[in-house]
Amino acid sequence: MRYFILIVFVLSGNAFSDNIDSSLSLPCLGCHGKSTDLTIPSLYGLEEDYIYNSLTDYKLDKRKNYLMQIISKAYSEHQLKILSYYFSKGHKDNE
Ligand code: HEC
Repeated sequence: MRYFILIVFVLSGNAFSDNIDSSLSLPCLGCHGKSTDLTIPSLYGLEEDYIYNSLTDYKLDKRKNYLMQIISKAYSEHQLKILSYYFSKGHKDNE
């Protein structure tokens, strides 16, 4: 019985974090999805640290971009970490 509970917990934990990843990243994909618009860089394949540092720089107004400064402020540091991990792993199913 104990194992059963553990398994359910692990499975639902995974499902939950997948949902967090995709729902957090959806607004980003409106601009950053696979696109031929070269004015907006694609995030896929960038290093996790690079994405996270860019986002925190925007959040702290150290890097200037009107849109990204507003957007990054709407996420907690923990959420930015999740997003950075998500894009660095190249999840392409939402494009
Ligand atoms: C309204 C359009 C828009 C949305 C939505 C948006 N971005 Fe951006 N993002 C931009 C633009 C434009 C730039 C380029 C800014 C610059 O040159 O500094 C950018 C730059 C970035 C960069 C730096 C990329 C690089 O190559 O240096 C990262 C990282 C980033 N965005 C992450 C995100 C994440 C994560 C989300 C969702 C939470 C998001 N963006 C949502 C428009 C958007």
